[in-house]
Amino acid sequence: MSDTGSGRVERVDFRATSDPALQDGAERDGMQLLSYGELYSLWERQHWAVQDLDFSQDRADWAGFAPEERFMRMSGLSSFFIGEQRVAAELGPIMRAAPDEQMRIFLCTQIADEARHVAFFDRFYKEVGVLEANTLEGRLEETAEHTNAAFTELFDEMLKRRVDRLAAEPEDTEMLVEAITLYHMVIEGMLALTGQHLIIDYNEKQGTLPGFVRGFTNVARDEHRHVAFGARFLRDMAASEPSYGEAIQRTLQEVGPVANDVLRPRWAERLEVADDEELPGGLSINDGRVFAARALERRLKAIGLTVAA
Ligand SMILES: [Fe+2]
Ligand SMILES: [Fe+2]
Repeated sequence: MSDTGSGRVERVDFRATSDPALQDGAERDGMQLLSYGELYSLWERQHWAVQDLDFSQDRADWAGFAPEERFMRMSGLSSFFIGEQRVAAELGPIMRAAPDEQMRIFLCTQIADEARHVAFFDRFYKEVGVLEANTLEGRLEETAEHTNAAFTELFDEMLKRRVDRLAAEPEDTEMLVEAITLYHMVIEGMLALTGQHLIIDYNEKQGTLPGFVRGFTNVARDEHRHVAFGARFLRDMAASEPSYGEAIQRTLQEVGPVANDVLRPRWAERLEVADDEELPGGLSINDGRVFAARALERRLKAIGLTVAA
């Protein structure tokens, strides 16, 4: 697997985000990262609508999957569906705590994006007939059984604790740096983008779920833009005060092992799949971890930091 996963990320519109993991020059110092205002303008140019997608072929494909394949697919999809809902809910206090108006304006666009991602998954689940429940809340609840314990720890403890603190103390900028390290670098940059590329590649190779692939590719492009914001923000903060650079490293050390465990899905436990065993898509769980770690490393270099041991 290449550094960036597939030809998809060679697309001009993906590269336009300036996400360091998509740039060849990421290892060199002084790499161009878009400003907050440029990231806002890019958001205006990169709109898409959930209502434009057509899931009719997806519905037929899903009906044809064997029960075991459905169970495996549900792990990845459920983590995204619930993850999108969690991050949409947590962004408000992060936006409010940002120290600069341009940052806040970009983060407002990200709140809209994350809401669109929840709507995307909700429509997919509803129209493809994956779940029994009839409401968004019911679908979220029903799908929660497919996520693992590390996922709950990362979102409902590590992220929530930091965001609750920011909601009470918006001037705690060091906590904001920790929250954006966890949210933009780890949850979006390491976990979401890795999962997205693996899931999209798998479906493209199998020729399955075309409506989902179209929508999820748009979600991935949004995520690269969010991660580009995170890289720019953390670079600016680390350059302004050494204690912010230390906060980034401290957060990565604390959450890194839990993030690695999130990449071992629930079905891998149930089917007793080893971390280095080749999976149906041709890759192992450890291959996913290597991909995630490499992307993090490139982004940290662009921020001016190295990965803590
Ligand atoms: Fe998202
Ligand atoms: Fe995002």
